[in-house]
Amino acid sequence: MLVASPLSGKWTAYICLATILCTLFTPAVSVKEHDFKKCQQSGFCKRNRAFADHAIGSSAWKSPYNILPESGSFKDGQFQASILKTIDDDGNTIRLPITVSFLESGTARVTVDEEKRQKGEIELRHDSKARKERYNEAEQWVIVDGLALDKEAKVAYEDKSQITVKYGPSSKFEAVINFSPFGVDFKRDGSSQIKFNDRGLLNVEHWRPKIEKPAEPEKKEGEETVEEKKEEEKKEEPKGEDESTWWDESFGGNTDTKPRGPESLGLDISFVGYEHVYGIPSHAGPLALKNTRGGEGNYEEPYRLYNADVFEYILDSPMTLYGAIPFMQAHRKDSSVGVFWLNAAETWIDITTHKDSKNPLSLGIGAKKSTQTHWISESGLLDVFVFLGPTPQDLTRKYGELTGTTAMPQEFAIGYHQCRWNYVSDEDVKDVDRKMDKFKMPYDVIWLDIEYTEEKKYFTWDAHSFPDPIGMGKQLDLHGRKLVTIIDPHIKNVDNWQVSKELKEKGFAVKNKEGNTFDGWCWPGSSNWIDAFSPAAREWWASLFKYDAFKGTLTNTWIWNDMNEPSVFNGPETTMPKDNLHYGNWEHRDVHNLNGMTFHNATHHAVKSRKPGELQRPFVLTRSFFSGSQRVGAMWTGDNQAAWDHLQASIPMVLSQGISGFPFSGADVGGFFGNPEKDLQTRWYQAGAFYPFFRGHAHIDARRREPYLAGEPYTSIIAAALRLRYSLLPSWYTAFHQAYVDGTPIVKPMFYTHPSEESGLTIDDQFFVGNTGLLVKPVTDQNRDSIDIWIPDDEVYYDYFTYDIIPTTKGKKVTLDSPLHKIPLLMQGGRIFARRDRPRRSSALMRWDDYTLVVTIGRDGKSAEGDLYVDDGESYDFEKGQYIHRKFILDGAQKISSTDSEGRGVKSIQQGEWMKKMQSVFVDKIVVVGAPGSWVNKKEVAVESDGRSWSASLEYSPAANGRAAFAVIKKVGARIGADWNVVLA
Ligand code: NOJ
Repeated sequence: MLVASPLSGKWTAYICLATILCTLFTPAVSVKEHDFKKCQQSGFCKRNRAFADHAIGSSAWKSPYNILPESGSFKDGQFQASILKTIDDDGNTIRLPITVSFLESGTARVTVDEEKRQKGEIELRHDSKARKERYNEAEQWVIVDGLALDKEAKVAYEDKSQITVKYGPSSKFEAVINFSPFGVDFKRDGSSQIKFNDRGLLNVEHWRPKIEKPAEPEKKEGEETVEEKKEEEKKEEPKGEDESTWWDESFGGNTDTKPRGPESLGLDISFVGYEHVYGIPSHAGPLALKNTRGGEGNYEEPYRLYNADVFEYILDSPMTLYGAIPFMQAHRKDSSVGVFWLNAAETWIDITTHKDSKNPLSLGIGAKKSTQTHWISESGLLDVFVFLGPTPQDLTRKYGELTGTTAMPQEFAIGYHQCRWNYVSDEDVKDVDRKMDKFKMPYDVIWLDIEYTEEKKYFTWDAHSFPDPIGMGKQLDLHGRKLVTIIDPHIKNVDNWQVSKELKEKGFAVKNKEGNTFDGWCWPGSSNWIDAFSPAAREWWASLFKYDAFKGTLTNTWIWNDMNEPSVFNGPETTMPKDNLHYGNWEHRDVHNLNGMTFHNATHHAVKSRKPGELQRPFVLTRSFFSGSQRVGAMWTGDNQAAWDHLQASIPMVLSQGISGFPFSGADVGGFFGNPEKDLQTRWYQAGAFYPFFRGHAHIDARRREPYLAGEPYTSIIAAALRLRYSLLPSWYTAFHQAYVDGTPIVKPMFYTHPSEESGLTIDDQFFVGNTGLLVKPVTDQNRDSIDIWIPDDEVYYDYFTYDIIPTTKGKKVTLDSPLHKIPLLMQGGRIFARRDRPRRSSALMRWDDYTLVVTIGRDGKSAEGDLYVDDGESYDFEKGQYIHRKFILDGAQKISSTDSEGRGVKSIQQGEWMKKMQSVFVDKIVVVGAPGSWVNKKEVAVESDGRSWSASLEYSPAANGRAAFAVIKKVGARIGADWNVVLA
């Protein structure tokens, strides 16, 4: 049987049916690599790689793209000109308008279009209704700010061959735009950082009419003469351009009709003097990206960005996954730069690193390395943003300014989520809810996968299994808990269901190439897909979520958007045909990677408007995403496996999301497919407690594995991990707030926090949490009783649980004990972070609890600092100033103080209901780890706040057996939102 719990006959039938569908339309064991294209099987990728091979292999190669000098003009921070592409030996050219914009933020943007397509002067084949232009609306979906032009940008030099523009902070940046051939050299402080078309790989496939070749008379085998045969063979040898995939292309039994012919883009982008590049998630591989042109330890294939339902994905692979963020960063010691390739079509990126061999006598010794990348997209504009750093923080902040930052989540969303495919009934849900309490396991959200619906008709409930969703929701609400229900973008295609009827009648579904409602296969069988690019369709979508439309939902119901790549079981590469049409008659080809985001964006706005006046921050989880998704959702890394290597892979994946602007991320805890051994499940909970998004999930075939089922000692160890997460929620929330403010990752890799430490640039199995100084290295392999953790600096490090001082050396690894019950978790000296130490059933129940502050005294023996952000955890009142944001400073081991971290005076802070209630929330305890020996006889300290002064007790424990001295100040009694001092000297 499929699930261990008792099932009704009807249920059994449904699950059997689901399983049959699964096995029919999705692979059973592991990803069928051959279901997904390799570069050689993707016409435009193959053509651009061949183009690159030809250019690099030929010493005579000269890029055929030249700026027409007289077409150039510079005004108000913008350079405009025409690039002429020479297309034949007769010197015929194609005109490509180019704009280079210099933005106030110091970011530069290069946009290249194609005049003929821009003006619609092309013919489409097959009577296609598709748009003629190159897709130019990605910006509308992705960019929210930061496009103001830098009026201070100045032309520093100009002649017939180039123009040099100085821009950015103190004019430290420089773009040298070369005309012949076209290329841009982006410099900082006079030295090259990023170069465009340095290797001459720019390739804009221009529109051309198809020249039909006369059909050749067929000859039977054996009728040809030897000469004719040779002639035939010669014809098959490639010469000139490879036209074989210009006009149509077949893969896996599907044919793409390509009404606009070839239209791909390629560009080489070199990172000068940078050995390591990062980003472009999502891939299951290391954080520092690998080379892709073969060689030992390298990939043979380019990294691919083509959102897809990659069932049971393979590890250490450049293969595409569910979401795409075409933002790449390059880091070396003390310098960071990046590019953002704003294109939503299928994209491939080749990466190679080579030694800079400027000095032939150096024989490569001590020579710097540079990374060369080759970006290839199937269609759309060439539109690239260039960030010149110089710090990793500059990159995430500027990318965040353009594409938006993480939406401030509700507090429950960063607690623990309990999911499986599927909880089989409302009674089952209520039972799990009770059991979590019984085993003292805090959790905030329980999830319902597709089986809660009637025949996979979203917005309905299976009346037999879920007769009382309201009762279920109310029980959850008793402890402030939430329910998440899944709503997918495919709508069952039936005539007797209003939602399906309306979708078709109103024309809100994605269309096929003929312009009729597209029909494909997904969980419900025959289905249609909402086209969330259409404003009217989004409005209609919103109407479906109103409480009186989606009956059975309450204010504590939230949404999970899955399968939004979109997954189409019988489509090419399990997705939509590229010649399908979206709102505005854009081809699916142009917008594929945006599709998932438009859908969860629609859902986000739908749940936000469920009832007039109800202002709760929405929670929507998405599987597919693009740049900008961070503004409206959280993501998870899809269908992983209950295996140690998948646990391991999840860490760099989550870190990569963080540095790429979408940090609200996590992997299925326990692994989606299969049944984790108990120790794996336990270790996964310990790691998951440090994912920004923390959810246990399991496949329908997996055995039940709610954490209380694990049995001892596992149950207690998992409960401890859950409680650790809950006690640290104040610090997690503070880290989320920082991500909301400026795009800072929530969990940070070593290069991000310590960009000067070269030996940490490729470390991707440990990370810091926000600003806490908490350094965690999850154990990701079996039977590991000790683990090596890399130490990035000269600070003192304490064991989180024992306060032992770890004997560390900067830039070296230190071995920590890591028996199963222990998470390798260190506290960096010099930090102050907040906790709530009383474990309760959910985050909501902890809302009015007092705080503990942990102070870790730094190497200097006397200082530390940190911050705390708190708001009501659910509404938008924080936007009106209803929040507490404190800065804590330990000064010379004399005094710990709390002040408003933004320097707001008491009077300027809004005093609403929530702020009033927070007046009775206090700092209860301060734990000072590494307390100075001079405190040994101290029994009391003075607390000053609100114009009063009182004393609090101090308990000092001297250093012993490697453990640091520590002091606990009890019953501090200062309000968390007030200014206060704890006087220690
Ligand atoms: C695929 C998702 O990745 C998985 O998490 C979910 O359980 C199934 N779809 C069923 O909805």
